[in-house]
This record gives sequence, C-alpha cells and structure tokens, in this order.
Amino acid sequence: MNQNTKDRFFITTPIYYVNGVPHLGHAYTMVATDAFARWHRLKGEEVFFLTGTDEHGLKVAQSAAEEGLTPKEWVDKVSVGFVEAWEKLGIDYDDFIRTTEDRHYKTVSAFLQAIYDNGYIYKDLYKGLYCVACEAYYQKAELLEGDLCPTHLIKVTEMEEANYFFALSRLQNDLLAWYEANPNAAIPESKRNEALGFIKGGLEDISITRTSMTWGVPVPWDKEHVFYVWCDALVNYATAVGFGVDQDRFDQWWPSVHHVLGKDILRFHLVWWPAMCMAAGVAPPSQLIVHGWLLVGGEKMAKSRGNKVDPLELVSTYGLDPVRFYLMRETPFGSDGDFSYEGLVQRSNSELSNNYGNLLSRVIAVVVSKLHGVAPKASPDSPIAAEVERLAQQAAAKWDSFAPSEALESSWEIIRVTNSYLEANEPWKMEESDELREILGSALEVLRIVSILAYPAIPTTAAAVWGRINMDGELVDQNISDSLRWGQYLGGSLLEKREPLFPRLSLEN
Ligand code: ME8
Ligand code: MG
Repeated sequence: MNQNTKDRFFITTPIYYVNGVPHLGHAYTMVATDAFARWHRLKGEEVFFLTGTDEHGLKVAQSAAEEGLTPKEWVDKVSVGFVEAWEKLGIDYDDFIRTTEDRHYKTVSAFLQAIYDNGYIYKDLYKGLYCVACEAYYQKAELLEGDLCPTHLIKVTEMEEANYFFALSRLQNDLLAWYEANPNAAIPESKRNEALGFIKGGLEDISITRTSMTWGVPVPWDKEHVFYVWCDALVNYATAVGFGVDQDRFDQWWPSVHHVLGKDILRFHLVWWPAMCMAAGVAPPSQLIVHGWLLVGGEKMAKSRGNKVDPLELVSTYGLDPVRFYLMRETPFGSDGDFSYEGLVQRSNSELSNNYGNLLSRVIAVVVSKLHGVAPKASPDSPIAAEVERLAQQAAAKWDSFAPSEALESSWEIIRVTNSYLEANEPWKMEESDELREILGSALEVLRIVSILAYPAIPTTAAAVWGRINMDGELVDQNISDSLRWGQYLGGSLLEKREPLFPRLSLEN
C-alpha cells in the first residue's frame, strides 16, 4: 500500500511527573496504550505513539532542591528511569517528549500566543490563600483547621499577584456544543457525563502564568512570567507533531489524535484541553479515552500513599506477558480495578498456562505422535469455523473500541470452544485419518487466529506461538482485515514438542 494513502492513528499517554520512578499505575496506562497502538499497526494504519515526561512546575523544582540538584540535573536523571522502565515493559512508542526540550518551548510559545492573539487571554489580579513554603495557592477547603497548609502546617497568607488568565468561562457553550455534536469524543460514557457535569456546573477562568517561580516556559509576550505547568504540559501533544514549527506534519497527524488518560486528570483533558484547542483555532482532540484507577487494597496506587507496586519487580518475578495480560484482562477499561498478586497468578495460570498454553502443547503433541509431526491445514468446513469467526470479529470490534478486557474475553472464548471440540472428539485416541487431520488443523487455525487477537496485549508470547505453529512471516506484519478470516493455516511443515510457553506461576515465585 502507498504510504501516503494509509490511515493515520495518533495515540498519546499522559506525560508523567518526574518526581520518582514509575509505578504500576503508570505502567497500566502504558501497556494499554501500547496494546492499542499495536492493534492499529496490525490494521495496517500508520501509527504514531507518543509518551514522555512532564518536567516543569513547583513539585519538580522542590524534588530537585531536596536532592541538592538543579531542576535540569534532576529531570535529566529521573526521566531516564521512565525510558528504561518502558523498555522492560515492551512499550513500543514512537516518540518520547520531554517538556524541557527546545521543540516544546517553541510550540508552547506558538500555541499560547495564538490563544492570546485570539483574545482569550487577559491580565488580572489573582487573589488567593498562599503557602510560601509550597509556593502554591490553596482553596479554603484544602486547608487544615486554622488555615494551615496541609503539607507544612504553617498559616497561609492572603496573596495577590498580577497573572494572565485563560477565559475558559467564555468557551462553556462551545464545549457543550462540541460534546453534543461528537458523542464519542470522550469514552466511556460515564466519564463523558462527568465532564459535561463540570461544564454545565459553570466554568471559571484559569490563572495560567506564574511570577513566583522560574522553572517553566517563559510567556512570549511578558518575560516576567512562566506558564503554569498544566498549560505547558497539555500542549506536548501538539509539540510532538510540529504545531507552530511544521504545519504540514501537524495537519497530517492532528485529525487522528487519541488521548489515553487516567480519571485523575479528566478535568484537564476533557474540559481545559478541548477549550484551549478551540481558543487557539485548532480542532479539539478526536477522542479522549479515560481509564479508571488501579487500586491496592481499595486505595489508589500513588507515590504519595506509599502503596506503590514496582512494575519491573513484577516483570522479573512473574514474566512480562503474564503481567501485561493481567493488566489488560482483569478489569474493564474505564472501571477501577484492585491489584492483587493472587489475581495475577490466577489469571496467568488459568488463562495463559491452562487454556492457551495447553491448547498449543496438546495439539502439537498429538500432531507429533499421530501425524509424524506434519501439521495438517485448516479445513474450510470445520464445525467450529463459523463460531470462531464470529468471536474473532467480536474481539476485533472490542479492540477497536478500546475495550481490551472484552477483546481478550472473546478471544479466550474461542479457546474454550476449541478445547470443548477437542474434548468431544478426543483426537489423542484416534488413528491417523482425514478426520484426525481436520480436527487438528482446526485447532492450529484457532492458535493462528487467537495469536493475532492476543498480540496487542502479549506481543512476545503471541509471536512465539506463531513461530511454534510455523507460520510464515512475522505476526507483527499481519493485516487483520485479511488474516482473521478462517482457513488460512496451510500446514505441511514439521511441528516439534517444546517446553511450555507459560510456566505455571505460584505466589512464592
Ligand atoms: O498527572 N491507576 O502526571 P502523573 C491508574 N503530569 N493509572 C494511574 C495510577 C493508578 N493508580 N496512577 C497514575 C500527571 N496513573 C501530569 C499529566 S498530561 C498532559 C500531564 C497514570 O505522573 C494515569 O494515566 O501524576 C494517570 O492519569 C497518570 O498516570 C498521572 O501521572
Ligand atoms: Mg498524579
């Protein structure tokens, strides 16, 4: 296919604060986004998968100071930890943006200048309750009794500074009209409704610059100020595709932009960001995909709560694909899910070892013992063909709608159907015959199809199954629109018994 006629798919993750090493909550977003990107590559689309780190703001400046480093030294050191973690989690992104890069300064200036020129930014006095130790404003409700800062336990002071404001309130009706006209602009629907609730409840203008600190992007029309960190951070999505620098590139990618994010930052992405785009004269994002929280014992996993699970430790104990599979399979995307070691071990043992792994090893064992190892081909009129095709289409539709858990559920339903078919026919008791070849050929065809459907979640082991059934070419190069149809397993090559792909896990691992 001609490169220029390919559909494009631009997908992003939040850019993470560099105030520590990534935890399993961050890994959750990354694995999901990686799976979506892989799915769209299988669809033959040209994919651009963006992630990165959010390196400005007070929190970062404070962490650096605590370590006795300059902010720049600190962010250089910490952002590497993200790059290394994503490598170990098999995250195949195309670009890693850091907000301290020169390209980002250029786009932030251009993007906010456009908003300014369009008349959506004005200067006004900002009044609020300020903690000097935090260098941050607090809402009355956030303070402890006696107007004490919750972090420093010192009394906040009434402060006033001249700041620039973004006229968010003026975009209320535009936002409502946009959501009305684009029912799928934000999914799931419950999260879309939450955003609509905020918007209908009335929007206040946002203070978008600071003079009290310097660790940020300078305001182009007033160098005394730097942009407030959220304003700078959101624009990263436009930076990566060349806004204000390479308009052609921006125009090519922007219409297909999909943002994946956790519900903690829903308001910034579902309210502020589309409004900022509108004010800059840019189309709001194509789709916002909001997921729930990974909880530990019912509480959000977060650095500040000290209940972090280290994703790299999990991977080294249990293996990469069991961890990825568990994250994608366990909880419907959009809902909160409780992380547990028991759940991880159980999912892996029942669905990877017992179902998928066993189907593979048992089919190959019978091919070796009864058919001299020669793989039979898929028979076009297998009794399970229609059901498998139906479930495969269902799984594909679920991947298309960012529902990994359901996509995997339908895919594993295919395995169950096949295992029942084998139990009913007991090929291991049969002699070499056309009937035996048909049964085993069907099972191998299922392994081919399920490996394609599972690949976005478990790319390494799915590709290994692909290799063990001797499929020609790389799984990663398959094009779903042709390859999910029944009857493409050609057989004819020699299969071998090998060690199990999914060793059984135990909690003591
Ligand atoms: O908010 N469960 O960065 P951040 C699920 N820099 N996902 C979780 C999670 C959990 N327990 N904990 C974190 C910021 N995440 C800003 C974003 S974007 C322009 C700027 C994931 O380091 C989830 O994706 O606090 C969440 O939205 C994100 O990490 C927040 O990362
Ligand atoms: Mg956070």
